[in-house]
Amino acid sequence: MNFAGKVVLITGASSGIGAACAVRFAMASAKLSIVGRNIDNLKKVSEKCETVSGLKPLSISADITIYDEIQRIVTETIDYHGKIDVLVNNAGIALMAGIQDGVEPLDRIMETNIRGTYLLTQQVIPYIVFTRGNIVNVSSVLSTTPICTMMPYCMSKAALDSFTKCLAQELASKGVRVNAVNPGPVKTNFLTRAGLSNEQSEALFASFATNLPLKKVCEREDVAELIIFLASDNASCITGSCYIMDCGVSLGDGGKKCEM
Ligand SMILES: NC(=O)c1ccc[n+]([C@@H]2O[C@H](COP(=O)([O-])OP(=O)(O)OC[C@H]3O[C@@H](n4cnc5c(N)ncnc54)[C@H](OP(=O)(O)O)[C@@H]3O)[C@@H](O)[C@H]2O)c1
Repeated sequence: MNFAGKVVLITGASSGIGAACAVRFAMASAKLSIVGRNIDNLKKVSEKCETVSGLKPLSISADITIYDEIQRIVTETIDYHGKIDVLVNNAGIALMAGIQDGVEPLDRIMETNIRGTYLLTQQVIPYIVFTRGNIVNVSSVLSTTPICTMMPYCMSKAALDSFTKCLAQELASKGVRVNAVNPGPVKTNFLTRAGLSNEQSEALFASFATNLPLKKVCEREDVAELIIFLASDNASCITGSCYIMDCGVSLGDGGKKCEM
Protein backbone atom coordinates (compact mmCIF):
# COMPACT_ATOMS: atom_id res chain seq x y z
CA MET A 1 0.00 0.00 0.00
CA ASN A 2 1.36 3.37 -0.99
CA PHE A 3 0.17 6.65 0.52
CA ALA A 4 2.81 8.87 -1.07
CA GLY A 5 1.32 12.37 -1.44
CA LYS A 6 -1.68 11.53 0.77
CA VAL A 7 -2.34 13.48 3.96
CA VAL A 8 -3.51 11.39 6.92
CA LEU A 9 -4.84 12.98 10.12
CA ILE A 10 -4.81 10.64 13.14
CA THR A 11 -6.25 11.48 16.56
CA GLY A 12 -4.93 9.78 19.68
CA ALA A 13 -1.63 9.22 17.87
CA SER A 14 0.45 9.85 20.99
CA SER A 15 0.10 6.28 22.26
CA GLY A 16 -1.22 2.77 21.71
CA ILE A 17 -3.15 1.95 18.54
CA GLY A 18 -2.95 5.52 17.20
CA ALA A 19 0.84 5.60 17.54
CA ALA A 20 1.17 2.23 15.76
CA CYS A 21 -1.14 3.54 13.08
CA ALA A 22 1.01 6.65 12.56
CA VAL A 23 4.13 4.51 12.11
CA ARG A 24 2.26 2.18 9.70
CA PHE A 25 1.10 5.11 7.54
CA ALA A 26 4.65 6.52 7.66
CA MET A 27 5.89 3.17 6.32
CA ALA A 28 3.51 3.76 3.40
CA SER A 29 5.03 7.23 2.82
CA ALA A 30 1.98 9.24 4.02
CA LYS A 31 2.23 12.85 5.12
CA LEU A 32 0.94 12.89 8.68
CA SER A 33 -0.84 15.13 11.16
CA ILE A 34 -0.67 13.43 14.54
CA VAL A 35 -2.88 14.61 17.39
CA GLY A 36 -2.76 13.98 21.13
CA ARG A 37 -2.47 15.79 24.45
CA ASN A 38 0.82 14.38 25.72
CA ILE A 39 3.50 16.44 23.94
CA ASP A 40 6.44 14.21 24.98
CA ASN A 41 4.72 11.12 23.60
CA LEU A 42 3.75 12.93 20.39
CA LYS A 43 7.40 13.90 19.93
CA LYS A 44 8.53 10.27 20.33
CA VAL A 45 5.95 9.06 17.79
CA SER A 46 6.90 11.85 15.40
CA GLU A 47 10.59 10.84 15.58
CA LYS A 48 9.70 7.19 14.87
CA CYS A 49 7.62 8.21 11.84
CA GLU A 50 10.37 10.45 10.51
CA THR A 51 12.92 7.66 10.88
CA VAL A 52 10.67 5.36 8.88
CA SER A 53 9.58 7.71 6.08
CA GLY A 54 12.00 10.63 6.13
CA LEU A 55 8.93 12.90 6.42
CA LYS A 56 8.40 14.92 9.59
CA PRO A 57 4.76 14.68 10.77
CA LEU A 58 2.90 17.76 11.92
CA SER A 59 2.39 17.20 15.67
CA ILE A 60 -0.67 18.90 17.11
CA SER A 61 -1.17 18.99 20.85
CA ALA A 62 -4.92 19.33 21.23
CA ASP A 63 -7.85 18.11 23.31
CA ILE A 64 -10.78 16.98 21.18
CA THR A 65 -13.27 17.85 23.93
CA ILE A 66 -12.52 21.57 23.36
CA TYR A 67 -14.12 23.15 20.30
CA ASP A 68 -11.38 25.74 19.66
CA GLU A 69 -8.78 22.99 19.74
CA ILE A 70 -10.76 20.90 17.27
CA GLN A 71 -10.80 23.87 14.90
CA ARG A 72 -7.06 24.34 15.44
CA ILE A 73 -6.41 20.68 14.47
CA VAL A 74 -8.02 21.34 11.09
CA THR A 75 -6.57 24.80 10.41
CA GLU A 76 -3.03 23.73 11.35
CA THR A 77 -3.31 20.63 9.15
CA ILE A 78 -4.58 22.64 6.17
CA ASP A 79 -1.99 25.40 6.68
CA TYR A 80 0.81 22.82 6.79
CA HIS A 81 -0.28 20.12 4.34
CA GLY A 82 -2.89 21.94 2.21
CA LYS A 83 -5.41 19.08 2.21
CA ILE A 84 -6.74 16.01 4.07
CA ASP A 85 -7.16 12.62 2.38
CA VAL A 86 -7.76 10.34 5.38
CA LEU A 87 -9.12 10.95 8.87
CA VAL A 88 -8.53 8.27 11.52
CA ASN A 89 -10.79 8.98 14.50
CA ASN A 90 -8.88 6.94 17.05
CA ALA A 91 -8.77 9.09 20.24
CA GLY A 92 -10.90 7.51 22.92
CA ILE A 93 -11.24 6.85 26.62
CA ALA A 94 -12.93 4.29 28.86
CA LEU A 95 -13.87 4.23 32.53
CA MET A 96 -14.79 1.24 34.64
CA ALA A 97 -18.33 2.36 35.42
CA GLY A 98 -21.93 1.21 35.24
CA ILE A 99 -25.30 2.94 35.55
CA GLN A 100 -25.06 3.05 39.36
CA ASP A 101 -21.89 5.16 39.26
CA GLY A 102 -23.64 8.41 38.42
CA VAL A 103 -23.72 10.36 35.18
CA GLU A 104 -20.18 11.76 35.18
CA PRO A 105 -18.54 8.70 33.52
CA LEU A 106 -21.18 8.79 30.78
CA ASP A 107 -20.64 12.52 30.17
CA ARG A 108 -16.84 12.22 30.11
CA ILE A 109 -16.82 9.26 27.74
CA MET A 110 -19.41 10.69 25.37
CA GLU A 111 -17.61 14.05 25.33
CA THR A 112 -14.47 12.40 23.91
CA ASN A 113 -15.60 9.28 22.09
CA ILE A 114 -18.66 10.80 20.43
CA ARG A 115 -18.93 14.59 20.74
CA GLY A 116 -15.24 15.29 20.01
CA THR A 117 -15.17 12.79 17.17
CA TYR A 118 -18.43 14.14 15.73
CA LEU A 119 -17.28 17.78 15.82
CA LEU A 120 -13.84 17.06 14.37
CA THR A 121 -15.37 15.01 11.57
CA GLN A 122 -17.83 17.83 10.85
CA GLN A 123 -14.89 20.22 10.41
CA VAL A 124 -12.92 17.79 8.23
CA ILE A 125 -15.75 16.76 5.87
CA PRO A 126 -15.35 19.62 3.32
CA TYR A 127 -11.67 18.74 2.86
CA ILE A 128 -12.31 14.97 2.63
CA VAL A 129 -15.08 15.58 0.09
CA PHE A 130 -12.66 17.70 -1.96
CA THR A 131 -10.07 14.87 -2.09
CA ARG A 132 -12.71 12.08 -2.29
CA GLY A 133 -10.90 10.63 0.68
CA ASN A 134 -12.10 8.41 3.50
CA ILE A 135 -12.61 8.11 7.25
CA VAL A 136 -11.79 5.22 9.59
CA ASN A 137 -13.28 5.24 13.09
CA VAL A 138 -11.72 3.18 15.86
CA SER A 139 -14.67 1.55 17.59
CA SER A 140 -14.62 -1.64 19.70
CA VAL A 141 -16.06 -5.14 19.78
CA LEU A 142 -17.82 -3.85 22.91
CA SER A 143 -20.17 -1.91 20.64
CA THR A 144 -22.00 -5.21 20.19
CA THR A 145 -20.72 -7.33 23.13
CA PRO A 146 -21.99 -5.82 26.39
CA ILE A 147 -19.90 -5.51 29.56
CA CYS A 148 -22.07 -3.89 32.23
CA THR A 149 -19.05 -2.67 34.24
CA MET A 150 -18.09 -0.55 31.19
CA MET A 151 -21.63 0.47 30.22
CA PRO A 152 -20.99 4.07 29.06
CA TYR A 153 -17.98 2.93 27.04
CA CYS A 154 -19.99 0.16 25.32
CA MET A 155 -22.77 2.68 24.60
CA SER A 156 -20.28 5.16 23.13
CA LYS A 157 -18.87 2.57 20.74
CA ALA A 158 -22.38 1.45 19.69
CA ALA A 159 -23.04 5.11 18.88
CA LEU A 160 -19.76 5.28 16.95
CA ASP A 161 -20.82 2.31 14.79
CA SER A 162 -24.10 4.06 14.06
CA PHE A 163 -22.24 7.29 13.28
CA THR A 164 -20.04 5.30 10.87
CA LYS A 165 -23.01 3.88 8.97
CA CYS A 166 -25.04 7.12 8.86
CA LEU A 167 -22.02 9.10 7.70
CA ALA A 168 -21.16 6.47 5.08
CA GLN A 169 -24.70 6.82 3.75
CA GLU A 170 -24.50 10.63 3.71
CA LEU A 171 -21.11 10.83 1.97
CA ALA A 172 -21.26 7.89 -0.45
CA SER A 173 -22.60 10.00 -3.33
CA LYS A 174 -19.61 12.31 -2.90
CA GLY A 175 -17.19 9.39 -3.31
CA VAL A 176 -16.19 9.40 0.36
CA ARG A 177 -16.01 6.09 2.24
CA VAL A 178 -16.50 5.73 6.02
CA ASN A 179 -15.67 2.54 7.95
CA ALA A 180 -14.85 1.37 11.45
CA VAL A 181 -12.52 -1.14 13.04
CA ASN A 182 -13.82 -2.91 16.14
CA PRO A 183 -10.93 -4.41 18.09
CA GLY A 184 -11.15 -6.78 21.02
CA PRO A 185 -8.54 -6.42 23.77
CA VAL A 186 -5.30 -4.82 22.59
CA LYS A 187 -2.38 -4.47 24.98
CA THR A 188 -2.03 -0.70 25.48
CA ASN A 189 -2.34 1.57 28.52
CA PHE A 190 -6.06 1.84 27.81
CA LEU A 191 -7.35 -0.29 30.70
CA THR A 192 -5.04 1.21 33.32
CA ARG A 193 -6.12 4.65 32.15
CA ALA A 194 -9.70 3.40 32.53
CA GLY A 195 -9.08 2.70 36.20
CA LEU A 196 -7.59 -0.81 36.49
CA SER A 197 -4.33 -1.30 38.40
CA ASN A 198 -1.29 -2.57 36.50
CA GLU A 199 -1.73 -5.95 38.22
CA GLN A 200 -5.41 -6.18 37.24
CA SER A 201 -4.61 -5.26 33.65
CA GLU A 202 -1.76 -7.79 33.45
CA ALA A 203 -3.97 -10.53 34.93
CA LEU A 204 -6.78 -9.73 32.51
CA PHE A 205 -4.50 -9.89 29.47
CA ALA A 206 -2.94 -13.15 30.72
CA SER A 207 -6.42 -14.59 31.03
CA PHE A 208 -7.41 -13.35 27.54
CA ALA A 209 -4.30 -14.99 26.09
CA THR A 210 -5.36 -18.32 27.63
CA ASN A 211 -9.11 -18.15 27.22
CA LEU A 212 -9.88 -16.40 23.96
CA PRO A 213 -10.63 -18.76 21.07
CA LEU A 214 -7.39 -17.83 19.27
CA LYS A 215 -5.38 -18.01 22.55
CA LYS A 216 -3.89 -14.57 22.01
CA VAL A 217 -4.80 -10.90 21.96
CA CYS A 218 -4.37 -8.48 19.05
CA GLU A 219 -1.26 -6.36 18.90
CA ARG A 220 -1.67 -2.67 18.16
CA GLU A 221 0.12 -3.25 14.82
CA ASP A 222 -2.58 -5.77 13.82
CA VAL A 223 -5.23 -3.07 14.26
CA ALA A 224 -3.08 -0.54 12.38
CA GLU A 225 -2.87 -2.99 9.47
CA LEU A 226 -6.67 -3.21 9.23
CA ILE A 227 -6.99 0.58 9.48
CA ILE A 228 -4.52 1.21 6.65
CA PHE A 229 -6.22 -1.42 4.50
CA LEU A 230 -9.62 0.27 4.95
CA ALA A 231 -8.05 3.66 4.19
CA SER A 232 -6.39 2.34 1.03
CA ASP A 233 -7.67 2.02 -2.54
CA ASN A 234 -7.70 -1.77 -1.99
CA ALA A 235 -10.87 -1.15 0.03
CA SER A 236 -12.52 1.05 -2.62
CA CYS A 237 -15.76 -1.01 -2.54
CA ILE A 238 -16.07 -0.95 1.27
CA THR A 239 -18.13 1.67 3.07
CA GLY A 240 -20.35 1.68 6.16
CA SER A 241 -18.69 -1.48 7.49
CA CYS A 242 -17.59 -2.19 11.05
CA TYR A 243 -14.80 -4.76 11.06
CA ILE A 244 -14.38 -6.88 14.19
CA MET A 245 -10.80 -7.94 14.99
CA ASP A 246 -11.06 -9.64 18.37
CA CYS A 247 -9.26 -13.03 18.38
CA GLY A 248 -12.71 -14.56 18.76
CA VAL A 249 -14.15 -12.59 21.75
CA SER A 250 -17.51 -12.22 20.07
CA LEU A 251 -17.78 -15.97 19.44
CA GLY A 252 -18.53 -16.32 23.17
CA ASP A 253 -17.68 -19.30 25.36
CA GLY A 254 -19.53 -21.81 23.24
CA GLY A 255 -16.32 -22.56 21.38
CA LYS A 256 -14.90 -24.27 24.46
CA LYS A 257 -17.38 -27.12 23.90
CA CYS A 258 -15.83 -27.63 20.45
CA GLU A 259 -12.22 -27.81 21.67
CA MET A 260 -10.69 -31.23 21.17
N1 LIG B 1 -6.77 -1.13 23.92
C1 LIG B 1 -7.88 -1.82 23.70
O1 LIG B 1 -8.08 -2.94 24.25
C2 LIG B 1 -8.94 -1.29 22.76
C3 LIG B 1 -9.92 -2.18 22.30
C4 LIG B 1 -10.90 -1.71 21.44
C5 LIG B 1 -10.90 -0.39 21.05
N2 LIG B 1 -9.94 0.45 21.51
C6 LIG B 1 -10.00 1.84 21.07
O2 LIG B 1 -8.76 2.20 20.49
C7 LIG B 1 -8.58 3.61 20.61
C8 LIG B 1 -7.17 3.87 21.10
O3 LIG B 1 -7.01 3.28 22.37
P1 LIG B 1 -5.61 2.70 22.90
O4 LIG B 1 -5.86 1.32 23.35
O5 LIG B 1 -4.53 2.96 21.94
O6 LIG B 1 -5.46 3.57 24.25
P2 LIG B 1 -4.40 4.68 24.69
O7 LIG B 1 -3.03 4.14 24.57
O8 LIG B 1 -4.90 5.13 26.02
O9 LIG B 1 -4.59 5.83 23.61
C9 LIG B 1 -5.65 6.73 23.65
C10 LIG B 1 -5.27 7.91 22.79
O10 LIG B 1 -6.38 8.81 22.76
C11 LIG B 1 -5.91 10.11 23.06
N3 LIG B 1 -6.96 10.90 23.69
C12 LIG B 1 -7.80 10.54 24.68
N4 LIG B 1 -8.61 11.55 24.98
C13 LIG B 1 -8.26 12.58 24.17
C14 LIG B 1 -8.72 13.91 24.02
N5 LIG B 1 -9.71 14.40 24.77
N6 LIG B 1 -8.15 14.69 23.09
C15 LIG B 1 -7.15 14.23 22.31
N7 LIG B 1 -6.65 12.98 22.42
C16 LIG B 1 -7.21 12.17 23.34
C17 LIG B 1 -4.74 9.89 24.00
O11 LIG B 1 -3.93 11.06 23.99
P3 LIG B 1 -2.93 11.47 25.20
O12 LIG B 1 -2.34 10.20 25.73
O13 LIG B 1 -1.92 12.34 24.52
O14 LIG B 1 -3.78 12.17 26.20
C18 LIG B 1 -4.08 8.68 23.36
O15 LIG B 1 -3.26 9.08 22.30
C19 LIG B 1 -9.69 4.12 21.53
O16 LIG B 1 -10.70 4.72 20.78
C20 LIG B 1 -10.22 2.85 22.18
O17 LIG B 1 -11.58 2.96 22.52
C21 LIG B 1 -8.96 0.04 22.37
